[in-house]
Amino acid sequence: MEQTLALIKPDAVGQGCMGTILQRIEKEGFHVRAMKMLRLSSKEAMAFYRVHEKKPFFESLVNFMSSGPLVALLLEKEDAIRHWRSVMGATDHTQAAEGTLRRQLATALERNVVHGSDAEDTAREEIAFFFSTREYI
Ligand code: CDP
Ligand code: MG
Repeated sequence: MEQTLALIKPDAVGQGCMGTILQRIEKEGFHVRAMKMLRLSSKEAMAFYRVHEKKPFFESLVNFMSSGPLVALLLEKEDAIRHWRSVMGATDHTQAAEGTLRRQLATALERNVVHGSDAEDTAREEIAFFFSTREYI
């Protein structure tokens, strides 16, 4: 079994899409091992997205990610990292495949409703960023 970190970003929470996304997570067969709602400080958002700190979109991304509550989920499933990213769709919602969450719900390149880890090492780091081991079910 593989684990990945999923986020329901502040735009999705604000749009009232939490339920739609959680329903899809269950329908796709992921086990939710941990879940919490929280608001990141801008410092925390900077730390979470530090790989993008040199990118032109970094400051705006940090403002967006700390603009309101988000939901963090520890998802478990065979091939969870790849599977969750395929359910999310491409970063740019206009390029995302039909039936993906981003195609269905995103409103801008930045406001693309969900996050998913992109590899085993980043998944481990991102899970530890949001959860302590005693929060896993
Ligand atoms: O989220 P994903 O792994 O698909 O994409 P990323 O390249 O790791 O970028 C992280 C996030 O930055 C994206 O999900 C977008 O919210 C945002 N972004 C942006 O605002 N403008 C871009 N040109 C690229 C990404
Ligand atoms: Mg990424």
